[in-house]
Amino acid sequence: MTERTLVLVKPDGVQRQLAGRIMARYEERGLKIVGLKLVHIDRELAERHYAVHKGKPFFEGLVAFITSGPLVAIALEGPDAISLVRTMNGATKPAEAAPGTIRGDLAVEMGQNLVHASDSRESAATELAIWFAPGELLAYGREIDRWVLSPQA
Ligand code: RTP
Ligand code: MG
Repeated sequence: MTERTLVLVKPDGVQRQLAGRIMARYEERGLKIVGLKLVHIDRELAERHYAVHKGKPFFEGLVAFITSGPLVAIALEGPDAISLVRTMNGATKPAEAAPGTIRGDLAVEMGQNLVHASDSRESAATELAIWFAPGELLAYGREIDRWVLSPQA
């Protein structure tokens, strides 16, 4: 089933200038970028995004980290996009992330594991609404093919 999911290239990914390469992996796999922005978020948005982790020992560190610099928010669309992206990102702990995954190839620390992805249909819907206004998520098909093949049409 076609799904939409939220991905963040976290501040460590932007700082390491890996945002483009990380995004390219999703594109190459066949997922479509339907929303995209570079943002430096405040504490209020960070707390809303990580609301499920409120009260956990690592919550304060998480909020401090995610607000520490710009990040890239990406809405991705494709078949089973939610689980597919989680698989591509790899295990939360980079030491347990399989080679070939983003974390397994590019990260060594749990606190700086480069990417976030929604973990269920519910969290995808909630998170996409937090990060993108309805008008910022764009539906598009393959108009470019029509244009290139028959510009007179
Ligand atoms: P994410 O939300 O970033 O896609 O990762 P996830 O679902 O695999 O991990 P989650 O449990 O949602 O945790 C969110 C982020 O918090 C950090 N974390 N630290 N010290 C700890 O025990 C701990 N547990 C989680 C990680 O950076 C994780 O990505
Ligand atoms: Mg999570």
